[in-house]
Amino acid sequence: MKAFAIIDRDIQPDVQDLPQPEPGAGEVLVEVEATSVNGFDLSIAAGYVWDMLPHEFPVVLGRDLVGAVTAVGDGVETIAVGDRVAGVIPGMALGARTGSIAEYVALAATAVTRVPAGVDAQQAAVIGLAGVAAHDAVEALDIQPGETVLVSGATGGVGSIAVQLAAAAGATVIATAQPGQEEEYVRSLGAAHTVDYTGDVSAAVSAIAADGVDKVVHAAGDGAALAATLRAGGILASTLGATAEAVGRQDVTVAPIMAEATAGKLAALLGRVATGDLRVNVSTAIPIDRAPEAFAAFTGGKLGKVLIIR
Ligand SMILES: NC(=O)c1ccc[n+]([C@@H]2O[C@H](COP(=O)([O-])OP(=O)(O)OC[C@H]3O[C@@H](n4cnc5c(N)ncnc54)[C@H](OP(=O)(O)O)[C@@H]3O)[C@@H](O)[C@H]2O)c1
Repeated sequence: MKAFAIIDRDIQPDVQDLPQPEPGAGEVLVEVEATSVNGFDLSIAAGYVWDMLPHEFPVVLGRDLVGAVTAVGDGVETIAVGDRVAGVIPGMALGARTGSIAEYVALAATAVTRVPAGVDAQQAAVIGLAGVAAHDAVEALDIQPGETVLVSGATGGVGSIAVQLAAAAGATVIATAQPGQEEEYVRSLGAAHTVDYTGDVSAAVSAIAADGVDKVVHAAGDGAALAATLRAGGILASTLGATAEAVGRQDVTVAPIMAEATAGKLAALLGRVATGDLRVNVSTAIPIDRAPEAFAAFTGGKLGKVLIIR
């Protein structure tokens, strides 16, 4: 089968011909329809992780997927052959069986959830790792109706989902976006205000929320500059590893987010997609044969998500 994989240190990922995995006990085999590019994949491709994470080459890239179940292993009772499922590959170990940019993936049945009728592969694929990170960030902020929430990185995968979840929780959302298409996009997701991240974000936010914002989602940009926009007692949830020390504020809470995917969270996100309450723009969808172009598109400036399709 085709898989976008790294065969050794210091070698760039490329489309390889690898053996199709067999589902083990408790696993399902999924014929992948679509998967998405995430920052984690870029970190692996750049070689940042070899001294930190257990790995065995070839390492297949990709973390999330949507597709049809073609086989199930022993003991799987909740998912059946023919089900369309979405999932995020669990764990941090890297190898031939731990990537989703492939024609087939075997993963734990407990890591997938059925895709509701009416949700197509592209809509479902965007809610994977980015959706869970946004979910976890918004949950960590414990947003109360009427609060003001700044979402930095609102034009990307995590941020555009966080804008919608924060607005649904009753927040007034300030989103980072450049004027024009980006601004229109984040407003269509529920942002009440926008600030141009190529300018002075702190000053622009102060002009909107003079007493400071209540909460911040940090999915891009400088954590210290963003923390400076918080009122005392506010919370910043960071998917970029910011800490209270690093942002230089002792009077706010900084919550580091490590996305923890569960089938329940994915089902809740897909439920919102099914009712039309959650969507993400697909910036581009590129066939697996041209996966390197998808990685270039991810770093080259995009609106929403970059998908890799069959
Ligand atoms: N900890 C976790 O569990 C976890 C999980 C998922 C993601 N992440 C991390 O979270 C971050 C966001 O992920 P993502 O998938 O949403 O990435 P993304 O799609 O690249 O989103 C980032 C967005 O922010 C924009 N941007 C660039 N510079 C900015 C700035 N200074 N201020 C505000 N916005 C800016 C980007 O625009 P351009 O595309 O034009 O540059 C892009 O639209 C990544 O670093 C990713 O690795 C962490």
